[in-house]
Amino acid sequence: MKIERIGVLTSGGDCQGMNACLYNIVKMACENNLQVYGFLNGYKGLINNQYRLLDINSVYNIMHLGGTILGTSRCDEFLTDVGQQKAVKTLKDNKVNALIVIGGDGSYKGVLCLIKKGIKCIAIPATIDNDLFYTSKSLGFDTAVNNAVIAIESIKQTMRSHNRCCVIEIMGRNCGDLTLNSAVASNSDIVVIKEKPTNVSEIVKQVKNCIKRNILSPTVIVAENQFDIKKLASTIQQKAKIETKSQVLGYIQRGGEPSVNDRIIAMQMGVRAVELIMNGIFNKAIGYKNDEIFEITVEQALKVTRDFNYKLLDLFIKLN
Ligand code: ADP
Ligand code: F6P
Repeated sequence: MKIERIGVLTSGGDCQGMNACLYNIVKMACENNLQVYGFLNGYKGLINNQYRLLDINSVYNIMHLGGTILGTSRCDEFLTDVGQQKAVKTLKDNKVNALIVIGGDGSYKGVLCLIKKGIKCIAIPATIDNDLFYTSKSLGFDTAVNNAVIAIESIKQTMRSHNRCCVIEIMGRNCGDLTLNSAVASNSDIVVIKEKPTNVSEIVKQVKNCIKRNILSPTVIVAENQFDIKKLASTIQQKAKIETKSQVLGYIQRGGEPSVNDRIIAMQMGVRAVELIMNGIFNKAIGYKNDEIFEITVEQALKVTRDFNYKLLDLFIKLN
C-alpha cells in the first residue's frame, strides 16, 4: 500500500521534547511528500475528528517550546470500545494510512488497542516519569531532571541560610527515576522512593544522622505518592528538633524548554518513525539505548519490566 497521509498526536501528560519531535516528524514527512494530519488533544481529537493539516510552516520555530502545540488529554472515552471504534472511523474516513503517537505508557496501551483494530501505528516514548522500561530514556525526562535540580538548588540556598531542613516532593507517578536522579544531581541528603521502601522513623533517623555529621540543613527528596510531605516535615521538626519546611515542586518539572539532549533524541526518534512508515514497517515502539535509536513491537515494549538503576541508588546511599 502506498503511504500518502500520516497522522500524529500527543497524548497523556505533556512533556518537553514533544514539540521538537513533532517538528522533525513534519519536516521529514513533508520532504518525502507525505501529508500530515495533526490530531488535537490526544485521543480526544481522534474520537471527535479534530485535526490540523501540518506543513513545515505550521511547525516552524516550535523545537524549543515546552508543552505540545497539538494539545493533549487524559481521555476516558478512549478507554471504551465505543471510543476506540470512533477513533478508527476517523482515521479510515480521513484516509490516514498510519498514525504516530507520542506519549507515555497509558498512551502506548491505547496504541495497542488501535493496532488490534487494524490501524498501523508507531509509538514514541514521551514522559517525564521515564516509566516505559524498554527504553533507557523517554522524551522529557532529561529536561525534567534539570528543571528539578535548578529548583531544588534554589530551595537549598534559602534553607541553608536558616539552617532549616526541607522535604521536597518530586513527580514521577509510580517511578522513582526522576526523584533519584534529581536527588543525586542536586547533592541532596536523603531520597525516598518506592523502589526502596522506608518509613517515617527511618527518615527521622537519617535526618538526625545528617545533623550529627554537621549537615545543618538536610534536604529530603521524596517521590510523589509515598508520604504526605507536610505531615512528614512536621514529624521531622518534632522528632529531629530542626525547623522543617515542605515544598511540592509540581509542574515546574514538566514545563519549560527541552534540554539539548531531549531535542536531539526527539529529532532522531521523529525521523526514525517516518522512515519506518515509509519502509512499510509498522506497530513499532521507538527506543533509545547506548546512544542508539532502536525499535521493538509495541506489544513487546509494554511487556518489559523494571530495570531500576540500583547501582546509582546504592552509590547515593553510600555517600550520604
Ligand atoms: P501517559 O500516556 O502519559 O501515561 P495516561 O496514562 O493518562 O498518560 O494515558 C493517556 C491516554 O491513553 C488515556 O487518557 C487513555 O485515553 C489512553 N489509555 C490509557 N490506558 C489505556 C488502556 N489500558 N487502554 C486503552 N487506552 C488507554
Ligand atoms: O505522567 C506525568 C505526570 O506529570 C506524573 O509525574 C504525575 O503523576 C501526573 O503526570 C500528573 O498528571 P496531571 O497533570 O494530569 O494531574
